[in-house]
Amino acid sequence: MAQVELSAPKIQAKSVERTFVFKNDQGRRESLHVLAGFDLDVRKGEFLSIIGPSGCGKSTFLNILAGLDDFDGGEILIDQEGLKRRSFDRGLVFQNYALMPWRTVRGNLEMGLEIRKVPRKERREIAKRYLELVGLSRFSNQYPHQLSGGMKQRVAIARALTYEPDLLLMDEPFGALDAQTREILQIELLRIWEADKKTILFVTHSLDEAVLMSDRVAVMTARTGRVKAVLEIDLPRPRTEEVRNSAEFLRARQTAWTLLRDEVGLACQVEGRA
Ligand SMILES: Nc1ncnc2c1ncn2[C@@H]1O[C@H](COP(=O)(O)OP(=O)(O)OP(=O)(O)O)[C@@H](O)[C@H]1O
Ligand SMILES: [Mg+2]
Repeated sequence: MAQVELSAPKIQAKSVERTFVFKNDQGRRESLHVLAGFDLDVRKGEFLSIIGPSGCGKSTFLNILAGLDDFDGGEILIDQEGLKRRSFDRGLVFQNYALMPWRTVRGNLEMGLEIRKVPRKERREIAKRYLELVGLSRFSNQYPHQLSGGMKQRVAIARALTYEPDLLLMDEPFGALDAQTREILQIELLRIWEADKKTILFVTHSLDEAVLMSDRVAVMTARTGRVKAVLEIDLPRPRTEEVRNSAEFLRARQTAWTLLRDEVGLACQVEGRA
């Protein structure tokens, strides 16, 4: 679905740099250059996936966008304004759920709404709606430790959606799910997105998922991480079973895989796995 974009991008990342300094196992200071010359424009309302080898800096970039981490160089604009820390216009689904263990499922969903001072009755209603959406209504009074990994991840997704953010940052949101739940939530997320076209930036290790969901797929290099190529996924929507089984789908997947394959090999060498 090639889109002609006339308005300004939602996100503009220009030459972003991030270096981590830490103590190594011998107690010496070491620095790790994770992002270098990272450029990416995300269009308003688009579904853009980032794929890349483990450790290339995908979560680092999302955390920076979420205002949870700093960057050392370059520029990031959201809606043409310099990135600000702590903004409630960005919903974040972490790779590792990040639920509050002392709050019930409903309490977790209502948290952001409480901060925004949404009245109690309205909070309840919004939380109820999104719990229904992810099929967890019956568990609203349970605590995270009483849920399976897949259920926790669904709570995390519902929590991000309750903020009704302009920009949804999703870091491997379906990574911990079984295949069936994953497929159901992929379809649900696409349905939600198609209804109101909020911008979604989505990190995944699954090529199929990236191609299925996205308008465009950004492929990152192995560390130091930058965007190697951005593929336009020119497939019709909705992305039905038929689209998934089409020759065009396989072609797009193959193109993405060809770009990714060399980087995965490089990453293995860096980690000493090859
Ligand atoms: N706070 C930190 N201090 C030191 N190193 C860090 C820190 N955060 C991340 N790193 C390192 O930066 C690199 C990139 O990490 P990041 O989590 O962004 O990778 P990723 O692309 O999300 O990988 P994965 O696909 O495995 O989730 C890794 O080598 C990681 O060890
Ligand atoms: Mg990650």
